[in-house]
Amino acid sequence: MEHATESRTDIAVEQEEVVVRIRGLCKAFGSHEVLRGFDLDLLRGENLMVLGKSGSGKSVLIKCIIGLLRPDAGHIDVLGQDMLALRHDALDRMRMRIGFLFQSNALYDSMTVRQNLEFPMRRHWSVMDANERKARIMKALEDVGLAHTADLMPSELSGGMAKRVGLARTLIMRPEIVLYDEPTTGLDPITGREIVELILQLQRQYNTSSILISHDLNVAKLAANRVVVLHEGRAHAQGTYDELLRAKDPVVRRFFMAL
Ligand SMILES: Nc1ncnc2c1ncn2[C@@H]1O[C@H](COP(=O)(O)OP(=O)(O)OP(=O)(O)O)[C@@H](O)[C@H]1O
Ligand SMILES: [Mg+2]
Repeated sequence: MEHATESRTDIAVEQEEVVVRIRGLCKAFGSHEVLRGFDLDLLRGENLMVLGKSGSGKSVLIKCIIGLLRPDAGHIDVLGQDMLALRHDALDRMRMRIGFLFQSNALYDSMTVRQNLEFPMRRHWSVMDANERKARIMKALEDVGLAHTADLMPSELSGGMAKRVGLARTLIMRPEIVLYDEPTTGLDPITGREIVELILQLQRQYNTSSILISHDLNVAKLAANRVVVLHEGRAHAQGTYDELLRAKDPVVRRFFMAL
């Protein structure tokens, strides 16, 4: 890990408006209690990182936020809506305002890059005309530096390219909030860094607020305004990268020991 870059604590948080508020979130699988009263506030314009070791419940947390998993207890408010009280259509409309980049990118293997990007638009914006859809796709690919790949199949993409296409597909719906699950995992450090820089650039361009889930301290250092440490199902500690770097708490220290 290199130390030349300063942490991004200077990114301006526009207003102190809470866009995601999580309180007392609990989720167990059988007797395995994964989330045990997790709290989090995401402010508008903020890049908040949830740092936790593998298996700590980071992906479970994200799945609870977008409604892929039903929590056992707790509250999740997104943009002023009580997510756990919403039903079908209302939940679908909210999900359009929340982008989600899967840990695995989740591209459809049998579709070209263009068709992969078209898929969410066809589903949610069936009235949009073909030319406008095409223009959106090209703009989304240009945004991630991959305008030349529209007709490739996912199997023809490198890991970094697939992550960029996943990012383009997430942002094509212009979500207000984006949840990134392990955006750098499986990528070499240079490509990982490029992806984080791209996420930051697009976040500014489209004015999104984001939750970045990762165990990669480089993500915290480069991109996070604030880091929440998920440990034993709770928000164990929080602070800027620099504050956590100086923290005495042994759980927090363990993340920095390998540096
Ligand atoms: N659908 C499920 N059924 C049963 N157990 C589950 C399910 N989903 C997750 N778990 C368990 O919950 C725990 C947390 O899983 P999760 O995927 O959230 O970890 P993570 O922090 O994202 O890890 P990684 O960094 O490896 O992605 C794990 O022990 C996992 O086995
Ligand atoms: Mg995970």
